[in-house]
Amino acid sequence: MTGGTTRWHDLVAQLLIVSRPSSLSLCMLQDWRSKDLAGLETACWEALHQGAKDRRSPLHSIVLSTVHGNEPRLRTVVLRRVDVADKRIYAHVDLRSPKAANILANPNTSWLAYEPEARAQIRLSGLAAIHNQDELCREHWQATGHHSRRFYMRPQEGQPLSVPQSLQEDLKDFKYSDADTEMAYKYFAVIRCDVTFMDIYGLHHEGNRRAEFYYENGLLNLQQWMSA
Ligand SMILES: Cc1cc2nc3c(=O)[nH]c(=O)nc-3n(C[C@H](O)[C@H](O)[C@H](O)COP(=O)(O)O)c2cc1C
Repeated sequence: MTGGTTRWHDLVAQLLIVSRPSSLSLCMLQDWRSKDLAGLETACWEALHQGAKDRRSPLHSIVLSTVHGNEPRLRTVVLRRVDVADKRIYAHVDLRSPKAANILANPNTSWLAYEPEARAQIRLSGLAAIHNQDELCREHWQATGHHSRRFYMRPQEGQPLSVPQSLQEDLKDFKYSDADTEMAYKYFAVIRCDVTFMDIYGLHHEGNRRAEFYYENGLLNLQQWMSA
């Protein structure tokens, strides 16, 4: 092998490493088929926990379903935090948004995450609460970056427009102070969901596999394999 070929191989290897689509969440779930029920449950929670921390993880975005009257409403949100010990998950929303109104009217929520490399889907459901201007909300706000706070400084979302929206110049250029962002704090809300149900469904050529887990007050009280 020539020196040139070796360098080319090194470059390809490096590119493969750099372009790996997901990181730790993948490691947690990729061998899901080798796990027993307890191991699978741990792997799911660890994958979600890592997903919340890792912006590159496919589990960093999660689909949240709320109830609007009699209808389901879906949308993607960022998974901001996962408390594995308490079986709680968190997202950030604008208090003025329809999803916040849905939860205030009906706390039943479902959440859906998909890890494409592992071909595994995780579904969660539980009762959600909206935290606004309380201790938990302040704690999350303090951990929120200056750049993210501008999204709560905009006019109310979901209004009809005659032209596509662009961020106001001052928000685009980050020409606002910490004091300015405090004006927006009143619109910042945290969704906290106390998970009561989780299931995982994995696709595999030797047989798809499914398991479900039920929780009460953060404690596992039933786990079982299900036909898939
Ligand atoms: C990748 C992605 C991530 C998003 N993350 C959030 C989020 O963390 N919080 C949020 O309120 N909206 C988020 N959105 C926008 C929502 O999906 C939704 O369209 C919007 O907030 C309106 O929702 P609603 O009318 O149901 O309240 C995200 C959208 C995308 C595409």
